[in-house]
Amino acid sequence: MKVIVCNNSEEMSKVAAQIFADRIRKKPNIVLGLATGGTPVKMYKELIRMHKEEGLDFSKVVSFNLDEYLGISGNHHQSYRYFMDTNLFNHININKSNTHVLNGKAKDAAAECKTYEDAIKKAGGIDIQLLGIGGNGHIAFNEPGSPKDSRTRIVDLTKKTIEDNARFFVDVNEVPKQALSMGNGTIMEAKEIVLIADKTSKADALSKSIEGPVTEQVPASLLQAHKNTTFVIDTDAAVKLKKKYESPKATASKGGCCCK
Ligand code: F6R
Repeated sequence: MKVIVCNNSEEMSKVAAQIFADRIRKKPNIVLGLATGGTPVKMYKELIRMHKEEGLDFSKVVSFNLDEYLGISGNHHQSYRYFMDTNLFNHININKSNTHVLNGKAKDAAAECKTYEDAIKKAGGIDIQLLGIGGNGHIAFNEPGSPKDSRTRIVDLTKKTIEDNARFFVDVNEVPKQALSMGNGTIMEAKEIVLIADKTSKADALSKSIEGPVTEQVPASLLQAHKNTTFVIDTDAAVKLKKKYESPKATASKGGCCCK
């Protein structure tokens, strides 16, 4: 597991975007795993810039999103489908039919989850998965205690996650109480994983995930057992880490990646 500590949120976003751009250039028909939330917005802006100014080509890219709220449709402004369309897909040359987001309005939600797992397998698995992290250490909507081998399924959101996500809704009571989410097991099968985090509100979860024991109580700590995971975080999010980690420049000088 690699940890890159960036000077700020802008640098974190650029470093993560450069990793994704590098993988897309190397494999144009790559299968991306994507995340929503506040953290990836600037990274997606950078990918859009790279598409417009540097010709980064998404025409053959396939994507699968981590999760979706249960009970709301893709047209709902707080749905994750709407988020992906407005923050990324509408601004790049990705074929929308290659973009997959779980259907929160599916009549049979359990069947929707099974179909999603099958679609990921049929696409050859996820080449590179983007993750954020919840203040409680969740990845996707795998809340503390989610089994390490869990698959895409219906999950109950914790009070903390509902409160954290209320900022996107008019009222906390509007936040759905359940979601459809890839499981920890699904995520761990990705060939490469990049977790991004900024802000001191993530510092506690990151110190437990990176330097604490591997436990289902802190789902992001499970990533310690993954062969190709990079945490790209900023100094605010890193305040509680005890060990010293690389800066983007140090990584670049070794040919790892990427910050200009
Ligand atoms: C979003 C997701 C969540 C978020 C996490 C952090 O698709 O799966 O796990 O990554 O809740 O959210 P933000 O970035 O809003 O702090």
